[in-house]
Amino acid sequence: MTPAPVNRLELIRPDDWHLHLRDGDMLQAVVSDSARQFARAIIMPNLKPAVTTTQAAIAYRGRILEALARSGLAPEAAAFEPLMTLYLTDQTAPAEIQRARDSGLVHGVKLYPAGATTHSDQGVTDLLGHCRPALEAMQALGMPLLVHGEVTDPAVDLFDREAVFIDRVMRPLRHAFPALKVVFEHLTTAEGVAYVQEADGPVAGTITAHHLLYNRNALFQGGLRPHWYCLPVLKRERHRQALLQAATSGNARFFLGTDSAPHTRPAKEQDCGCAGCYTARHALALYATAFDSVGQLARLEGFASLHGPAFYGLPVNTSRLVIERAADRVPECLDAGAGAQAIVPLAAGEWLPWRVLDTVGDPGSSPLDDAP
Ligand code: NCD
Ligand code: ZN
Repeated sequence: MTPAPVNRLELIRPDDWHLHLRDGDMLQAVVSDSARQFARAIIMPNLKPAVTTTQAAIAYRGRILEALARSGLAPEAAAFEPLMTLYLTDQTAPAEIQRARDSGLVHGVKLYPAGATTHSDQGVTDLLGHCRPALEAMQALGMPLLVHGEVTDPAVDLFDREAVFIDRVMRPLRHAFPALKVVFEHLTTAEGVAYVQEADGPVAGTITAHHLLYNRNALFQGGLRPHWYCLPVLKRERHRQALLQAATSGNARFFLGTDSAPHTRPAKEQDCGCAGCYTARHALALYATAFDSVGQLARLEGFASLHGPAFYGLPVNTSRLVIERAADRVPECLDAGAGAQAIVPLAAGEWLPWRVLDTVGDPGSSPLDDAP
């Protein structure tokens, strides 16, 4: 007899370990989407100008909390906690890392290879050439390095940039700093997955919902589709399969990071459109759909709510969240404030089979619950 399908899932409120919230009107427009589902999120520092100091990170955190307060959310969502990060540059001083650690509010330092992605022009040009003092301080203080793992060498094919990064940057980095905590952000390849599985020492990887659900065909389905363009770019089906296997394996080195990256519709739909998919609004429904596709919903809670806090050394959330199997349509576009601007979310206009139902306060009930 085949088991009855799970129609309702209650889990410890999850965290998003890789999120772009932007600033100003855009921040105001998107922050509640994440706060409704996640208790905490690692906030990416690639603003213009980049968040390179603890002082700037604390000021940015203040603007996020103000935007949350203005959103009129229910108490549990309003308690959303932004976990700040610094943007690593060729000049980042060890004293800045110490300040970040002392603040108690900064939880990671982000490596953007210069030119690798959106707003990465202030990024690092030569990691081991210029950043050794900062990396030494991070290793000593247990401050994680969050890595955008793609080389920028124009001679390397766009689809190979993650795999080449492992040999050219990740291995030498981890050889020089074996005790440094490293998160290989938004994994997209079988090679990246294998590296995280096999590496010695404190290494983990985040995986987005879109890389679990789609392969690179989505970029070209019926025409050129800019809202499916992100970096690292979607890869072949065999890579998607490897990511899905890793995310649903129960291995605590893999955890949830949406990389939700909002851009306005005009910024995406132009001759040189920006990289980034907006997934925050339906993040958990997208992840549930991916886990359900391989019959592994029971592993979603570990991936979404347990593995991340364990790696970052933070407590597991106490509140809970319920998702249910119910068709929910992704809106065609969302208001991004400032009048006419709009965000087109990933899978706009499509129906998803899961939706976030509610938050509940009972920590005693079973995480997996069949519908009556
Ligand atoms: C991100 C953005 O828009 O800030 N874009 C993306 O495609 N993921 C930057 C990044 O994380 O690479
Ligand atoms: Zn990102």
